[in-house]
Amino acid sequence: MCGIVGVISDEDCQKYIFDGLKLVQYRGYDSVGICQKNNDTLKVDKVKGLIDKLVCKTSNLEGCKVAIGHTRWATHGSVCEENAHPIEGKDKEWVIVHNGIVENYQQLMCNLQREGEVFKTQTDSESIALLLSLNNFDDPIKNLIWTIKQLKGSYAICAVKKESNNYIYAAKNKSPLYAFCNDKITMLASDPICFPDGDYYKFEDGEVCVAKKGEIVFYNLNGVVIEKQKQKFQPIREKADKGDYEHYMLKEIYETPEALKNLTKNFLNIDIKNIKKLKFSNVKLIGCGTAYHSCLMGAIYFRKFLKIDAEAIYASEFRYGDYVIGSKTLCIFVSQSGETADTIAALLKAKTKKAKILSFTNVPYSTISSLSNIVIPISAGPEIAVASTKAYSCQVAGLYLLVMALKGEKHYYKALKQVCELANETEKFFINMADFAQDIAQKQKVFFIGKDSDYVTALEGALKLKEISYINCSALPAGELKHGTISLIESKTPIIVIITNKNLYEKVMNSALEAKSRGGKLYLISYKPPEICELENFEFCLSLPKVAQPLLCVVSILPLQLLSYNVSVLKGLDPDKPRNLAKSVTVE
Ligand code: F6R
Repeated sequence: MCGIVGVISDEDCQKYIFDGLKLVQYRGYDSVGICQKNNDTLKVDKVKGLIDKLVCKTSNLEGCKVAIGHTRWATHGSVCEENAHPIEGKDKEWVIVHNGIVENYQQLMCNLQREGEVFKTQTDSESIALLLSLNNFDDPIKNLIWTIKQLKGSYAICAVKKESNNYIYAAKNKSPLYAFCNDKITMLASDPICFPDGDYYKFEDGEVCVAKKGEIVFYNLNGVVIEKQKQKFQPIREKADKGDYEHYMLKEIYETPEALKNLTKNFLNIDIKNIKKLKFSNVKLIGCGTAYHSCLMGAIYFRKFLKIDAEAIYASEFRYGDYVIGSKTLCIFVSQSGETADTIAALLKAKTKKAKILSFTNVPYSTISSLSNIVIPISAGPEIAVASTKAYSCQVAGLYLLVMALKGEKHYYKALKQVCELANETEKFFINMADFAQDIAQKQKVFFIGKDSDYVTALEGALKLKEISYINCSALPAGELKHGTISLIESKTPIIVIITNKNLYEKVMNSALEAKSRGGKLYLISYKPPEICELENFEFCLSLPKVAQPLLCVVSILPLQLLSYNVSVLKGLDPDKPRNLAKSVTVE
């Protein structure tokens, strides 16, 4: 799960690689590297850490006409300079960058060692670099085709060869790879966002290519040249910058009201009749992490407003579980990136069971979008920070719009318009949460409780806080505390209580007070201020602005996102790039 970029250009190769790597850094940022090539020489530079460190380290190779770059999310082998890509093969003849997992690498390693090859890294990718030199074919593309026929698993590979033409050899199976070519520049990348504006090629599994200046020649695995159509250029994911914000995450939280406006506008173009025509009687909502939390919220909407049997399932569980689905099942896949490996695999499984496939994604050209019968754009705009914020709000709001439209509500989008008007509230939340964060930043553990949709908000709030502050956080349905977890409550353990439904106020409050009586400290986020007589129970209270109850969850998550952000910053961490994570999880 890494980002790769390759470039052939008479000038500025290094710059193109660095700019491209910055754009695919969402795929991983444990280490980063570049290989520059002129006709004869290959020069590799790599570092553990971020691109700016590589930029400082890398000098220009004179006459450089080709370069490949890689930003890594470690799967095989620890995070260190040695395991960073590009990876060099025997005698540094071939140098490769690889995204994916070579599943049979142990077997390949044994075979290669028997042939006398020496592994210098702990990566599965090195087997590719070594295999490339094993034969002496007349054309290097044959080395690549022979090599990938030995591989099991997923790969997008860009390879360069010493003392040969200024070409890049590339191959793809299951991991994304795109190519671009005009008379000035030829590029390969994990995401077309790296390319200049213009039509580009999307590799299919089992395709390889030789990329040259002004030309890309594609082959199938029999070595036969194939003709490929270009994908029509559509303004790809906008390229975002931080503006005046210190971090992308903060900027993206503040962008939520605008993103919700775009969602509403784009949703009105969806032909609901086409969805009704799918004639489904039950719904499965499938996603991972934050997107799974959106699915939980969507399932609540389907059950509450349409009285339809609806269930949210983790994509990684759906893949291997015995869920009952068939042609009457509508499977809704939710994914910001549209490239999450578990979600893609779950979707393919649902297809084999003849389920109807609808997806919510933020990337119109993503794999999940292209595999779905109907796609509803999340419309959140680029989300760069690893922790998902505005995309979550748009996913939840989008599911609400879908359910309301299916219900036949005439002015279903009006309630959401109210939420879009709340731009000023974000600043108020920020100020409140900056204060509250001082307290939380000192803690080792934090609990979040709520009921029904507030339990989902608790789950998402807890995920956000643990993800970027490394504090151990748990979320529970309020009534579940007493069934075991309450034993973890000690003096001053923080419990964040979320209440957006007045019918549940007293029930949740009772659970909160049980925790308080064991020494816990209560922090309240609620649709209304507490009564004066209740005030002494809380260290902190935040009351939410008035919007339609089913959409209060889109508002109540904002202060929790801002709390996480502030805690992360107070702890001196980088909220945009939490350790061990990547924005797009493209491996199982
Ligand atoms: C958490 C987060 C992840 C993603 C998950 C699914 O802040 O961002 O949990 O939600 O990896 O990613 P997508 O939505 O791209 O499928």
